[in-house]
Order: sequence, then structure tokens, then C-alpha cells
Amino acid sequence: MTDATPWWKKAVIYQIYPRSFQDSNGDGIGDIPGIISRLPYLEKLGIDAIWLSPVYRSPQDDNGYDISDYQDIDPIFGTLSDMDRLIAEAGKRGIRIIMDLVLNHSSDEHPWFLEAKKSRDNPFHDYYIWRDGDGIHPPDETKASFGGSAWEWVPGVGQYYFHQFSVKQPDLNWKNPRLRSALYSMIRWWTQRGIRGFRLDVVDHLGKDPDLGIKVNGPMLHPYLREMRLQAFSDPGLVTVGEAWSADTDSAKLYSNPDGSELSMVFQFDHMKLDQRPEGDKWDLVPPDFIALKQIFTKWQRGLSGCGWNSLFWENHDLPRSISHLADDGEYRIPSAKMLAILLHGMQGTPYVYQGEELGMTNAWDFTLEEYQDIEIRNMIREKRAAGLPDEEILRRVRSKGRDNARTPMQWDAGPQAGFSSGTPWLRVNPNYREINAASQVDRPGSVFECYRTLIRLRKELPVFTDGTYVPLLEDHEKLFAYRRRDSGSELLVICNFSAGCTENPLAAETAEGELLVCSYESAGQPSVLRPYEARMYLKTRDLGKDEANE
Ligand code: GLC
Ligand code: CA
Repeated sequence: MTDATPWWKKAVIYQIYPRSFQDSNGDGIGDIPGIISRLPYLEKLGIDAIWLSPVYRSPQDDNGYDISDYQDIDPIFGTLSDMDRLIAEAGKRGIRIIMDLVLNHSSDEHPWFLEAKKSRDNPFHDYYIWRDGDGIHPPDETKASFGGSAWEWVPGVGQYYFHQFSVKQPDLNWKNPRLRSALYSMIRWWTQRGIRGFRLDVVDHLGKDPDLGIKVNGPMLHPYLREMRLQAFSDPGLVTVGEAWSADTDSAKLYSNPDGSELSMVFQFDHMKLDQRPEGDKWDLVPPDFIALKQIFTKWQRGLSGCGWNSLFWENHDLPRSISHLADDGEYRIPSAKMLAILLHGMQGTPYVYQGEELGMTNAWDFTLEEYQDIEIRNMIREKRAAGLPDEEILRRVRSKGRDNARTPMQWDAGPQAGFSSGTPWLRVNPNYREINAASQVDRPGSVFECYRTLIRLRKELPVFTDGTYVPLLEDHEKLFAYRRRDSGSELLVICNFSAGCTENPLAAETAEGELLVCSYESAGQPSVLRPYEARMYLKTRDLGKDEANE
């Protein structure tokens, strides 16, 4: 690691879903003043930057991912001056603010779209994607990600517009250079206000070509990113993160080329796709294959080493809670939560912590179908009912995979509404808040929070976290996930028991030589046995002569 290493290669980023983080005025919706009041908590955790899900002015059809004014803050979240204060207050604590940039689509209430749908010769018409038609037969069969046709008829212009997501999220026409340059100048406006980075929503969609049936990875995608890098992201201190569900290691090398020509890093989901039948949709669930999970991590750790940069995450606002999904949110909730943290945070890349993950928050198992608010879930319920799927089965799927699982309010303390709001929260608080909350974990040795805090500190202290090579171990083992990281002077060894039973530790002789840095249990166990969901991370100073002889 040299002085020239960009800050974000050593950083840990914390994602805030503003609606659900902290409400300051009792309207039941989290807001920017609420975030400011919780900065001491984030400083204690030790994170370097906050990725803020959208707070721009928005009709909130998709909770802010439908923007009607990119240069203002939605009144439910606060004002522009609240935002300036957040940037300044976070800055004083060494925390940078990363904004979510939704450039694939705007809201249908954005002034651009209101103009665009007035007439075919309106100067803004070409900011969106239109096709002629008869109002009965959409141009093609393309489906929107939130259900229904991706084409919506506008009688006034006698054309359909394209929307990859909801009907209130018309896709922007990136082929139009005036549109691109308007977006770049908006981005520069935010960087001048002190924003230090951007997370680019569904970035792989930007070069789409509906005529050719290309939704992602269109031929112009990477040229657009290079243009945007030059015109909007020229400040070398910015971090840029591309959300790309379609990325593979080859495209990731382009997105995150160390020459800085496109973005800083890619945010890809290969490790999160194992729970769905390949030919099905995201609701068509199968048990994830553990060996495949290990192979995916190995592929990405090796594939980008020295030639790209990856994000490390288990959770975000679109995914279920990780311990509910991949480990155990019941009897072994605490070791499970720490195990997933230790496993991920020992790898190469930039770790992300999604609000509440550092407390071991779980899915909401007791919601009824009526309680879900998410547009994706609501549309899915309608479609699956129409297809004849029984409610019971719909509920089972939503409870395990629905996005609202991770959007329940942050659990701050054991008081009313978990300390989130003095009013009625927009989405119900998970009833387990009396047991799982920040107040009972901060400064408590052995808590999930303290484990995250330790891992974040270790990443800053030990360069092997950032630079070390990755060597998978026990690749065919059905229960253990183990790997080694190595740099010139030291070696990390991570071993995790992904099971609810005790498992013999085949690496006991090796681990005996290391210093135990962190473990998912408080009490010392037996070196030769791993307890349920036990994870251990060891540090060894390398004996160079011996290692070379072995390699
Ligand atoms: C991204 C966001 C998701 C949103 C979608 C459309 O995947 O993370 O929350 O619904 O894009 O903007
Ligand atoms: Ca509020």
C-alpha cells in the first residue's frame, strides 16, 4: 500500500436508507436532521463515508429512486441547508457523504418529462425514449422490472415511452448529448457543495438500446462512463460506485479499471443470486449452494486482484437481512451475525455496512401481506395472485426475499418505536427491537456492534486487509468457509463454520500458530472444534523462508 492508494481502498462505507434511519420531527419518516443527530454513533463505529439512498425531491413512488428535482431535497427529508449541515457535520467527524445518483430514469413528475410529453417537437421530448404505436399493442414484449409492460402509452403525443422500472420512472435517453450534459452539470453542482462520491444506480442500464432488445451492457455504456468520468468526476478524491447486477469479472475490470478511466469500484451481486432458480424470477427460491458461494467469492477475489476493485456487502435496501437469509436469526443470531461480518471484512475490496446490519437486525417475520409498502412487493403480490399463487406461498416468498425486510426502522433502543420516531413509523418496527437495539450493544464487549467496530479498526491498522492476495482453503468442505490473505509481512487466516452444529477444524495445527484477532464467540473454544456459526480470524507474521519453501 502506497501513499497514492486512494482513500476508498482502505475505507468502510455505511449505507443509510434515510426513510428508516432516524425521524426527528415525529412524522414517522426518517430525515436529514435525524441523521445528523446520529453522527456520533457512526463516528464510534469508525466508518469513513455514508452512502445516502436518495433524498432528492421525489413523489416517492419508489422511495426516492424516482427523482423530480435533482438539485433539491425532498421536504419529507429536510432542506438543502439541512443537507449542507449534514455534509459539514459529517466532515468534522472525518465522514464523507456519498449520494445516490439515479441517472437511468427520472420521475414522470420531473419538469423534463412534463415538457417531453407535451408534444413531439418539444425540446425535452428527446430526453426520454419514445416509440410510435396504436395505444393497444406495445412496441414489443419487454417487461418492466416492477411488473407489466415496459412501455406506457401517452395519448397526447400518440407514442409509448419506455420505463425499465415503474410507470412513474421513465427512462432517460442517454443518446441525447444535451441530456448527458445536463446530468453532468448537476453532478458538478453537488461536488461543489461538498459531496465526495456517488453510487450510480443501475449503471449497467445506461447504454440500453430498446430497438436492439439490449437492456444492459449496451455498446455505448463504457464510452458514456468514460465521458462522465471526464466531465463530472474529474476530482481525484471522489469515489464512484457502479451498481451492476449484470457485471461479470470482465466487465468489472472495465468499470473499475485502476487507471481511473471509468468508476472507482463495481457493486455486483453474483454472491446474492444463488437463492433463485436460474430460469425463474427473484421470487423463485432455492436453497443457496454453499460450495458455489465459495467459488463465487474466489472468482471475484482473484479476478479483480490488481486489475479492478470490488464492493464487499451482504445487505442493502434491496436485499433481505443477511442472517435471516444465509445464516441463523434465531438461537445462533449473535455468532451468525459476527460470522458473516468476519467472513466478508477479511476480504479484498471496500466493505459496506447497511444500517442495522451492525446490530444483527433480522427480517420481519410477522408482517401480513397488507403491511408491505414496497412498490416491487405490491406489484408482485398483484401479479402472483393473478397467476393463481396462494397468499400463503406469496407471503413465504416476500418474508424471505422482500425489500421491506431491510427497510424496517432502525432499532436504536428498547423504548417506544425503538427510538426511531415519536410518531407512527411509515413501516412497522420489527417487534424484536426490545432485544436487538443499538443502546444494548454500543460499548458492550461481545456485541455484534463491537465486532463490526473491531473489524473496521483492523482494516485501518493492517495493510494485508487491503493488499493481501487471496487463497481459498478447504474448497470442497460442505460446512467450512476458509481463506488466507497474504502480503509481504503478514498473513490473515479466516475460518467460518456455516452450520448449526460443531465441526472439526482441519486447520487446527495452523491456527495454533496465529494470534486470534477476532472470533464470533466471546469465550475461548477448543482449537480443534468450531462451534455453531463460529468464525475466527488469525494474524500471523510470515516466516518468509518457510512459506517460500511451501509455495
Ligand atoms: C436500484 C435501486 C432500487 C431501485 C431501482 C430503480 O436497483 O437500488 O432500490 O428500485 O434501482 O431505481
Ligand atoms: Ca421526519
